[in-house]
Amino acid sequence: MSQNMNVTYAGLRLKNPVIAASAGTTKDADHAKRCEEAGFSAVVLKSIQEETINRYNPFPRFAVVKNGIPGFNSNSFYSYEQAFEGGIDEYAEMVAQAVRAVDIPVIASLNCVNPQSWGEYAKVVQQAGAKAVEIVPSCPVGLFLRENVDFSKIIGKATADTKAAVDIPVVVKMSMQLTSPLLTAIEVEQSGADGFTMFNRLTGLDIDVETQAPILHGGVAGHGGPWSMQMNMRWISEIFQHIQVPISATGGATNWTDVIKYMLAGAPTTQICAAVYLRGYKVAKEILNGIGAYMERHEIQALEEIVGVAANRIIPLGEAERSKRYFAKVDEENCSACGACQGICIYDAIGLAADGKRARINLEKCDGCGLCLHICPKKCISMQAK
Ligand SMILES: Cc1cc2nc3c(=O)[nH]c(=O)nc-3n(C[C@H](O)[C@H](O)[C@H](O)COP(=O)(O)O)c2cc1C
Repeated sequence: MSQNMNVTYAGLRLKNPVIAASAGTTKDADHAKRCEEAGFSAVVLKSIQEETINRYNPFPRFAVVKNGIPGFNSNSFYSYEQAFEGGIDEYAEMVAQAVRAVDIPVIASLNCVNPQSWGEYAKVVQQAGAKAVEIVPSCPVGLFLRENVDFSKIIGKATADTKAAVDIPVVVKMSMQLTSPLLTAIEVEQSGADGFTMFNRLTGLDIDVETQAPILHGGVAGHGGPWSMQMNMRWISEIFQHIQVPISATGGATNWTDVIKYMLAGAPTTQICAAVYLRGYKVAKEILNGIGAYMERHEIQALEEIVGVAANRIIPLGEAERSKRYFAKVDEENCSACGACQGICIYDAIGLAADGKRARINLEKCDGCGLCLHICPKKCISMQAK
């Protein structure tokens, strides 16, 4: 079966939905080339920051914070990486070099402070050959978020000013540090946005308990990880229903299932960053192979068919099925009576069979909550309808 992974994002026709997100991994023409060779369909270059303090990195600036309960993976890629190191002229030169180096669309990324600069910077990158521009008032280290100003109003004005200055598509990278991402998206679409990138990372804080001080450079930092996907999908699936322009998902995607989930939630493309830092550019190929196999399995002719399918299946609160009850059932052949399920059942519904060799469910007490089947290391519990 011929596989059509083409997607359209902000007026750009892309050969697949996997875009390299703005970061050190896309910092110049050489890295844009690596993204292209790895299979990414477009590259969002490292942002330029108008605020000069944000152009210079502290060292070291990365940590992988692993926390949570052993056996339940939770990590945060915690970083304080600053922007492109030069001013707008050097940035324009870098954009031009990247455009010459690759055939995939090059998207420039801007983070300005002064209201008039958005349009000025956008003109320069358009002149340098960028195929689109992503504006990022939402950078975790950026002025707007640091000072807790009314981001919604600033972002709408920045979008309108950028749109007025250029002919190339203007994409807005949003933060979730907003009262309502939905209302902001609706407002910003009216300001002319051709697409949204959702969502930039949040600011976080991690502390070294021995020194009793913040880790790395001593302040708050950008943090994100696989855990951010569910909150991003929650908003993308809702916003997708209320806007006309496409969404590019970013946040926590590390493998093909994540990209497919984001598509089903309503984002035709997904941008990948931390996975490239932690596993290398090869993740793009792995993701594309996984998507190809999924398309074959589900007989999907054109990937765009699935955009928003799950978002459209979200049911209103009142329609959730509340009348059917379930109980846990143990696969007695495979249960080794390890006690994991017994140890967590707050209903005291799990004991041992008389021979002590397998778990036994007390049907009177079992609430049917479904937790034990996720705890069982041997996956030998299932739920049955009462
Ligand atoms: C080290 C690092 C540097 C980043 N730099 C930028 C940047 O310059 N501009 C920007 O818009 N986003 C930047 N980001 C955010 C990423 O583009 C991406 O949206 C975010 O990391 C979420 O995706 P992920 O979970 O795949 O990492 C950066 C992220 C990291 C980890």
